[in-house]
This record gives sequence, C-alpha cells and structure tokens, in this order.
Amino acid sequence: MNVDTLAVYPGSFDPLTNGHVDIISRGSRVFDRIIVAILLNVEKAPLFTVAERVEIAREVFAKYPNVEFDTFDGLLVEYARRRQAGVIVRGLRAISDFEYEMQMALMNRHLNPEVETVFMMPAVPYTYVSSRLVKEVVALGGSVTTLVPSLVEDRLREKKLGRETLKA
Ligand code: PNS
Repeated sequence: MNVDTLAVYPGSFDPLTNGHVDIISRGSRVFDRIIVAILLNVEKAPLFTVAERVEIAREVFAKYPNVEFDTFDGLLVEYARRRQAGVIVRGLRAISDFEYEMQMALMNRHLNPEVETVFMMPAVPYTYVSSRLVKEVVALGGSVTTLVPSLVEDRLREKKLGRETLKA
C-alpha cells in the first residue's frame, strides 16, 4: 500500500519567521505534502491579517510544490480530520517550548488518537527566534535581517511599528 503522508503545520505565523521557514522546508522533505494552517484567531489582535499572512507564506514558498496554505478555525484535530492529514508538525526550539507542546500534543491525541504529532528541531541559528520577539525588536528599532524572510522584513517596515504598538 502506498498512501501519501499529509501533514499539517499549524500556527499563528504573525509573522512568518525563518524558524517557521526552516521547519516547513524540513517538513516538505519528510512528508509527501504539508499544509501550513494559519489559525483564524478572533481573540488575539494580530499585526498581520490572515489574508496578509497567507499571501506572505505563499510567496515565500512559491517554489515548493508540496507545500499548501490554508486557514482554520476551531479544533485543530477536526481540521486535520477534514483534510485527511495523519500528522501534526510542531517545531521545538528549546526545553521551554516542551511543556506547552507536550500538553497540546497529548490533548490532541486525547481528542483524536489517529493523528500523530511530530516535533522537528529548527536549525540552531533560529532556536531563539519567535514572532513575538521579532515584532518587539522591530518596534524598538532593531534589525531582524536574517531572522525573517526579506519579504517579511519589508512588510514589517511598512507597518511602521513603534513603541506604542507594544503591549504592556
Ligand atoms: O503558533 P502558535 O500560536 O503557537 O500556534 C498555536 C496553535 C494554532 C497550534 C494552537 O493554538 C491550536 O492548535 N489551536 C487550535 C485550537 C485547538 O485545537 N485546541 C485544543 C487542542 S490543544
């Protein structure tokens, strides 16, 4: 039996960092297809709209034929079931990620034992990179070159982030 392995890589991606890019490109080599699934989260106040995030990711991965982009709402395992994906991919940067990621993986397994969470380690230079810190550094006038795709850097500049955009 030769069944394609379809994986979902869920997240907020606000914005996409080189850490995400690293995990997606690793995932695209391990799985037959990988869907980057952007959470439609009405509670958080995102910097980029979901449409902007999808457009950025599409452009960055234009040359990856087995990487797709989508949005999802509600339970991740329900989304995975609907898309017939057997794997959830998450990046693990450091021990500090582990507790939250383990809780999510085990909750998702409780909700749907047929979906397996697979953790992937990003390349070492991205182990400290997060979307939240990227936004903070840009708002305070620092450089995030090498930490995000150049397209994301341009879009961040267009947003004209300042100190006042940082939450207390
Ligand atoms: O990039 P993030 O913000 O760390 O991603 C978090 C995400 C989207 C993976 C997580 O919030 C999620 O899966 N949300 C969907 C809601 C859900 O399924 N919750 C119950 C299982 S933990």
